Amino acid sequence: MLTLPKNQFQPFFTDLMVKAVHEEHIFAGFNVFSLDDAYEIVQAAERIGSPVMLMVNKVALELFPVEVWGDALNLLIKHAKVPVCAHLDHTTDFKVLERACKAGFDSVMFDGSQLPLEENIRKTRMAVEMAHGLGVAVEAEIGAVGYSDGAGGKDYKAAMTDPKEAARFARETGLDWMAVSVGNVHRMETQDAAIDFKLLAEIEKASGTPLVLHGSTGIRDADMKKLLPTHVVKVNIGTALRMAFGNTLRGEFEKSPKEFDRAKLFKLPLKKLGEEAEKKMTLLGCKGIIS
Ligand code: G3H
Ligand code: ZN
Repeated sequence: MLTLPKNQFQPFFTDLMVKAVHEEHIFAGFNVFSLDDAYEIVQAAERIGSPVMLMVNKVALELFPVEVWGDALNLLIKHAKVPVCAHLDHTTDFKVLERACKAGFDSVMFDGSQLPLEENIRKTRMAVEMAHGLGVAVEAEIGAVGYSDGAGGKDYKAAMTDPKEAARFARETGLDWMAVSVGNVHRMETQDAAIDFKLLAEIEKASGTPLVLHGSTGIRDADMKKLLPTHVVKVNIGTALRMAFGNTLRGEFEKSPKEFDRAKLFKLPLKKLGEEAEKKMTLLGCKGIIS
């Protein structure tokens, strides 16, 4: 059991991520779209004593500017009783990346997965120099995690991660944690991704870097457990929570077709979203990490 140092949430979180390589737990990064779902997730983390990462993606940036997100998430961080990390997910735009670093995000992802290798290395290194200069951690992707629903765009090319390229990518960019493609696929609505554990082991051996798996809604519970002793330190989960919220909300409309009060309609969907987050963090071995 670790005791949370006061007012040191963010550096503490970074330390936790690095330590997680040698420990049997994996942190959950959840996509958030508003203050209500973000707060629900923080409360779920507090209930079970788990650190958690709140992630803002491109869709969320269409709802609020990155500076508003920075302030909002830091407000939650200030009041949280467990370490909470504010992370900017899947970014290709350097200006947004820099704005996030200045807006109080603890970690940012530069996503050069669709670039040729040399360009991905060069741009990721630039992102690392900029972000590290502002005290912010960097996640970057090698190989490319596909999308089950075509959300990556019609020209998006999925590719499994090559262990040799991964080793070079980690070495030459100075990134903090590395997103890899080993059979994980974004936005799956069923849990049946075929994770290639042999490839993951080769990547681990070659790179010696903390790893991240995106598209983790689609990973089977049994496979999540098999991931615990690996170098995977974070899994990204979005669709599972969006389904818990959205499918429950549909039921609420069906039950009360004349209801128009947002607070009443959202009550049960948010509860279900929080329960799903709690379930995932527990599965990932995070229950009781923070006393
Ligand atoms: O970056 C976000 C995630 O990779 C979420 O993936 O929606 O398939 O769980 P998911
Ligand atoms: Zn992702």
